Amino acid sequence: MSSPTQDIQEILITEEQLKEKVKELGQIITKDYQGKDLVLLGVLKGAIMFMADLSRAIDLPLSIDFMAVSSYGSSTQSSGIVKIIKDHDINIEGKDVLIVEDIIDSGLTLSYLRKTLLERKPRSLKICTILDKPERREADVKVDYCGFKIPDKFVVGYGLDFDEKYRNLPFIGVLKPELYK
Ligand code: PRP
Ligand code: MN
Ligand code: MG
Repeated sequence: MSSPTQDIQEILITEEQLKEKVKELGQIITKDYQGKDLVLLGVLKGAIMFMADLSRAIDLPLSIDFMAVSSYGSSTQSSGIVKIIKDHDINIEGKDVLIVEDIIDSGLTLSYLRKTLLERKPRSLKICTILDKPERREADVKVDYCGFKIPDKFVVGYGLDFDEKYRNLPFIGVLKPELYK
């Protein structure tokens, strides 16, 4: 039998820790967005798990939309090239948009997204990520809600992939280096 867990060297954040943190973030966001017109804007594909869990942890009327922005291809290195593969459907003008991401690495994806979305005149625009790798930052991005700051290790699971695999792992794990070196 083959399991994706076999390719994991170390579990960095357990399923339980993720659940606890998402609940906490949901409660904070619920307080902060009282009376606002909240749109959760997930960045495909990495954000899908976090989006599914976070949206259910927020006790407010809200809308959900997605964009697909890719900068990585199948490599573990950021190319710095950001392209919109799928745009959002909801008109965000006058809305309180919260970008939902799985990880901020170089920050290139989000700094580009932020600039692009601000031109569309949302009432507010904030960023929520479950993981942040501050050591790798190349572009300055203000993170409004962050789950965990993590060291510069190649992590997969909970939406994060390597070569489109491992997104379905329920925890955040470090991939065995021999698999990508
Ligand atoms: C990954 C990740 C973030 C982005 C972070 O997405 O999900 O969206 O890279 O990197 P950055 O801060 O260096 O820009 P990826 O482009 O791999 O697409 P995916 O979400 O479909 O895996
Ligand atoms: Mn992504
Ligand atoms: Mg990826």
